Amino acid sequence: NRTTTELELVNVSASWDEGIGELFEKIKQENKANGQPNCDASLFFTNLYITPVLKNISLYLEKGKMLAVAGSTGSGKSSLLMMILGELVPSEGKIRHSGRISFSPQTPWIMPGTIRDAILFGLTYDEYRYTSVIKACQLEEDFALLPEKDKTLLVEGGVTLSGGQRARLGLARAVYKDADLYLLDAPFTHLDIVTEKEIFEKCVCKLMASKTRIVVTSKLEHLKRADKILLLHNGDCYFYGTFSELQAQRPDFSSLLLG
Ligand code: CTP
Repeated sequence: NRTTTELELVNVSASWDEGIGELFEKIKQENKANGQPNCDASLFFTNLYITPVLKNISLYLEKGKMLAVAGSTGSGKSSLLMMILGELVPSEGKIRHSGRISFSPQTPWIMPGTIRDAILFGLTYDEYRYTSVIKACQLEEDFALLPEKDKTLLVEGGVTLSGGQRARLGLARAVYKDADLYLLDAPFTHLDIVTEKEIFEKCVCKLMASKTRIVVTSKLEHLKRADKILLLHNGDCYFYGTFSELQAQRPDFSSLLLG
């Protein structure tokens, strides 16, 4: 049903080194225009350098559902988010989504200013919304320990955040923003197991319950809770479907979640 579909990918492939293909294509066209024979090496180099990072990926995500993107390091999880964001242009296939995206990168950038500014990121302060996001991301406890709470200055003469604080701040910023589709790239990096579990529950599952979400995570517990799972392996779709389908179709899947 198209009206309830928020995101659709149809047979999408992409490479990061597209530029090389374009360059050789240009040389080929120039040779042709000048009546020169084409250099056979161009085809050889095109095939050598253009290694697709994502190959023939298809998926759809309905409004309000959660997709977990799993796979070992370098399998293409971040690249998939980049493609949905429009940063990586597909060489083949189609991508369709209906609107505003909020993206939480693996390493969120922090600019000078207060902690609150870093979360609002230019948006207006709404006390109820802000407080629920802060609670769900467990930042309240951190703020309580700071002399000026969330008005404390970051960077330049201010406090330095720990990796886990930075990760939760990045998540809070992405969640505070109102969007149709949320892309959360490994939001639990640097968090201990207990905090990770609580934030997954309170923020990703509860606070974001009605949001369309893509979460990059390879945790078994998270895959169980997701509505759909995409398991990538070297840029290929190793599996796409529900958790019970995953267990039935790919009983050996957990070996791909490590690393
Ligand atoms: N890549 C690239 N240029 C980029 C981003 C990624 O060439 N700007 C390449 C990487 O070198 C890698 C492949 O694309 O070979 C997939 O990377 P990525 O999508 O980041 O993989 P992830 O599954 O997200 O890996 P990780 O879990 O380590 O973040």
